[in-house]
Amino acid sequence: MTKPLIIANWKANKTLAEAKSWAEELVQNWPTGVEQEVILAPSFPHLSFFRQFLNEKNLPLKLCAQDVSRFPQGPYTGEVAAESLIGLADYVLIGHSERRNNFQESDGILKEKVERAKSANLKVIYCISEKDVSVPSGVSVIGYEPLFAIGSGQPDTPQNANHVAEGFKNQLSLPVVYGGSVKPDNAQSFMQEPNLDGLLVGGASLKASEFLEILKNAA
Ligand code: PGA
Repeated sequence: MTKPLIIANWKANKTLAEAKSWAEELVQNWPTGVEQEVILAPSFPHLSFFRQFLNEKNLPLKLCAQDVSRFPQGPYTGEVAAESLIGLADYVLIGHSERRNNFQESDGILKEKVERAKSANLKVIYCISEKDVSVPSGVSVIGYEPLFAIGSGQPDTPQNANHVAEGFKNQLSLPVVYGGSVKPDNAQSFMQEPNLDGLLVGGASLKASEFLEILKNAA
């Protein structure tokens, strides 16, 4: 079994000042003996601050970009090329339903993004919202996030999430994390399922205290 993965997805939230105070609170309250791989996905402009902060504080958090361009470096104003993330991010989220739905990212576009990410040695956390979805090769982690559960306060059942994860694991032998209304009081129930390797946490990661609670409960 791989190390459990606990991923904080901040989405388009937080000023730099708010990101800094979250970071300070996290470092001051970091529990001893954290065994999980803890991964933070802030907005692009905050990655550089976090890279420096984590080095200074010697905190074992990994950093994740929330998206990457499907283009290489070049004349693509507003895009962030995979190469620009080298040294800043370890992982990248690709295929989140908010990108598929709000930005019309098709399977073809997502496959190109995975290829760009791989060329820059970024590990891909590939999100899908249901079973029987195709997953491009080169992905490192699958994030199962059913649409009804995202931001709704209505998580999937741990049993169903486990069942979906089992299907993907049988085909691809990759770690699968669950996301969708994960909170401190339900984190453990998902972690107890044999086919779930971690959690992808949105809203409940925005408060450092709540995220730390999830880390403790998911141990
Ligand atoms: P949520 O979001 O925890 O706020 O439901 C999860 C996600 O979309 O990654």
